[in-house]
Amino acid sequence: MKDLEKYKDILEPFERLVRLDICGSVHEVPENNSLLRCFQYLRLDSISRGDLCWNGDCLNCQVWIEREDGMEKGVISCRTKVAEGMKIVRTTKEIAELLEDAE
Ligand code: FES
Repeated sequence: MKDLEKYKDILEPFERLVRLDICGSVHEVPENNSLLRCFQYLRLDSISRGDLCWNGDCLNCQVWIEREDGMEKGVISCRTKVAEGMKIVRTTKEIAELLEDAE
């Protein structure tokens, strides 16, 4: 797990990490947080300086997740909580660039 000290003012409280598949790459991210906060957990510097409103207005953070029926559903990552095993199949160009080289 990362050094959580620098995330303590950013993340909602969480007990454990959950698995999040981002376009075929599986990461462990904090439960009880929005997808965008999870992205920030993975790439603190780039997501923090990204062109993102964090309040549902800009849509730069949109991602498409796979529903149980296999269809894609577009969601706003700053307004959508992560769930165990969630699978993101597409992102905006903005998010893809900010997440490049995520650990
Ligand atoms: S960051 Fe702007 S809508 Fe999510």
